[in-house]
Amino acid sequence: MKSKEELQKLDAKYMFHPVVQLAEHEQHGARIITEANGSRVKDIDGNEYIDAFSSLWNVVIGHGQKAVADAITEQLAKLEYYSPFFGFASPPAIELAAKVVSLMPKDWNMGHVMFTCGGSETNDTNIKLARMYWACKGIDTKKKIISRNLAYHGVTFGSLSATGIEFFKTNFDPLPPGFSHIMAPYCYRCELGLTYPECGIGCAKQLEEAILREGPETVAAFIAEPVHGTGGVIVPPAEYWPMVRKILDKYQVLFIADEVITGFGRTGKMFGCMNWNVRPDLVSIAKGVTSGYFPLGGAIASNEVFETIKTNLPSFLPFLHGFTYNNHPVGCAAGLANLKIIEDQKVVENAAKMGAYLKDRLKGLYDHKSVGDIRSIGLMAAVEIVKDKDTKEPIGELPMESTHRIEELTWDKGVYARAMLENVAVAPILTTTKKEIDIIVDALDASIAQMEKEML
Ligand SMILES: Cc1ncc(COP(=O)(O)O)c(C=O)c1O
Repeated sequence: MKSKEELQKLDAKYMFHPVVQLAEHEQHGARIITEANGSRVKDIDGNEYIDAFSSLWNVVIGHGQKAVADAITEQLAKLEYYSPFFGFASPPAIELAAKVVSLMPKDWNMGHVMFTCGGSETNDTNIKLARMYWACKGIDTKKKIISRNLAYHGVTFGSLSATGIEFFKTNFDPLPPGFSHIMAPYCYRCELGLTYPECGIGCAKQLEEAILREGPETVAAFIAEPVHGTGGVIVPPAEYWPMVRKILDKYQVLFIADEVITGFGRTGKMFGCMNWNVRPDLVSIAKGVTSGYFPLGGAIASNEVFETIKTNLPSFLPFLHGFTYNNHPVGCAAGLANLKIIEDQKVVENAAKMGAYLKDRLKGLYDHKSVGDIRSIGLMAAVEIVKDKDTKEPIGELPMESTHRIEELTWDKGVYARAMLENVAVAPILTTTKKEIDIIVDALDASIAQMEKEML
């Protein structure tokens, strides 16, 4: 293997990294990771870190699970790939579709799965399915998509248009028309200036206002993460989702649940929507379906959506949507092995148990003068950093100054926690232990104290 210096030089010369300040990256050099096992990753210098963000929320079963690697190599040797178009299929894809649907509550009445290569592709697929559904029902005015501020749905044009973190859109206009946003159920910074529970869940009522403003006959779907992820682990109040579902039913608007982060146990339930018993019409999965061992996502339609499209598309017209790498046999074999581990090792149950412990341990961070809010559900958590607990202003003149510093300091202590807007976020692997959570929270604690010394 080339030396660290050689690799960093080549990286700076040839690589284009996502979501990084390019000039700063060139100056600092890539953080080169060479190995990983369980919750630990190792860099090229041999330093070990606890991966307290499951890499990018996705490595839910932890790193280095041999059974998944074996399933991938076996499938590669047997059938590395075949076209998913024109009716071809492979055994692992069929089996994984059946498995994923079987993990969903029966009353969701799901459905049919089209596997993709990730979350953005999946959300674009589901947005197109929602429009196609209404067109097939003979209502071809229902096209608009409503989503929420601070939502993250990906970066392709459809999913980016639904995304509600505005700075991701910088320089990419014009975006397609037909997308609008409502406020997030972000009690700490309520856009209506109200307080729960006296607010009457005004953020949910905004959905009804938005549908009426746009015209119910023009709205195809509402797309939302059960819990905002990248926007700051925003956990809605208990009443929120039942109210939203009622409004969607009243105006005949489909619900696309973006379960890319929350699917497969992250919140302590198999799917995020199960925390509130809310039924989606279309579900987007990715990340945890293979724990990142192979790129895979999936758009899942309810039987109602699928049957409507199947029955009403004219006989001369195929279903004209698909990617070369849909239903990839190797990705689907990885998915089957990953879900077997999730079930056999009771990973979701562990996420619920360890999530309660993490919540409890994080409470101690409120003692810091810069910790304004702490939100968590299962094993996803955000600690919001402010200059002043009363004014809630951020620290520093540029966005994320303090949270980037905390990320740096925790990294130096051997823990990867992520700066996420004005939050420091953790999302440990779902097989994590109390001992690891203690190390993670202690590192956060010391790093926040250090950041305050430097910046406040
Ligand atoms: C909720 C959610 N939806 C969609 C996406 C996009 O997924 P991908 O990066 O695989 O395109 C992400 C990625 O983080 C996500 O968190």
